[in-house]
Amino acid sequence: MNKRNSLLRTPYSVRISHWLVVLCFFLVAMSGLSWFFPSLNWLNNLLGGPQLARILHPFLGVVIFAFLVFMFLRLAKYNILEAEDRKWFGNLGKVLKGEHVEELETGKYNAGQKLLFWAIMGLISVLLISGIVIWRPYFAPFFSIPLIRIGLFVHALAGVLMMLLIIGHIYLAFWVKGSIDSMSTGYVSRKWARTHHPRWYRQITANRSEKEH
Ligand code: HEM
Repeated sequence: MNKRNSLLRTPYSVRISHWLVVLCFFLVAMSGLSWFFPSLNWLNNLLGGPQLARILHPFLGVVIFAFLVFMFLRLAKYNILEAEDRKWFGNLGKVLKGEHVEELETGKYNAGQKLLFWAIMGLISVLLISGIVIWRPYFAPFFSIPLIRIGLFVHALAGVLMMLLIIGHIYLAFWVKGSIDSMSTGYVSRKWARTHHPRWYRQITANRSEKEH
């Protein structure tokens, strides 16, 4: 993409963290699914077989958590819900049909992306806490059997919810044409920014010209 006509949306450190999360999430999700149904047992071969998958799954989960904490620190300020976001929910029908809604003054992320952001951060925290409760042999011996049972249930439920959310996230990343550039090259076209995130576009172009003067 011609850098003159493009704007930096996602810095390198955030992109690297995101793709490391994607890789680890895929391996963790597949090994998690392999324990749900006997017919899916073969999926744990992706992590080197049943024993190795059982050992690696929680450690990779902690890696995901650490990179998501980094993303949280870099992106939380852009994901705070504002009064303006009500309009986005009010026009949800049109947004989902892909119609352009002129009056939406979307900032860096739209209301849907913000909700997804908080859902991902909430679920990863639940997965970490419940994961520690059920993590044999290191932590589980410190907890009672009934608590471990609750931990197992909560962990499985949060894992399934996270997988469903991520399927939706991947669908939207490809459905909104041009979005994937934000996480691959990091740069998006000015036209894309103006169309999908007009308030963010105005803010960063105004800052740029201030710096140039
Ligand atoms: C193949 C899988 C995935 C693809 C193609 C993908 C794609 C993307 C894209 C294109 C963006 C940037 C959106 C924008 O700048 O407007 C993004 C943001 C993000 N993604 Fe993914 N993603 C994937 C998997 C994941 C997974 C597994 C997680 C976490 C468990 C995740 C968490 C996030 C977060 C936290 C953001 C920032 C959103 C915000 O700040 O509101 N993604 N993703």
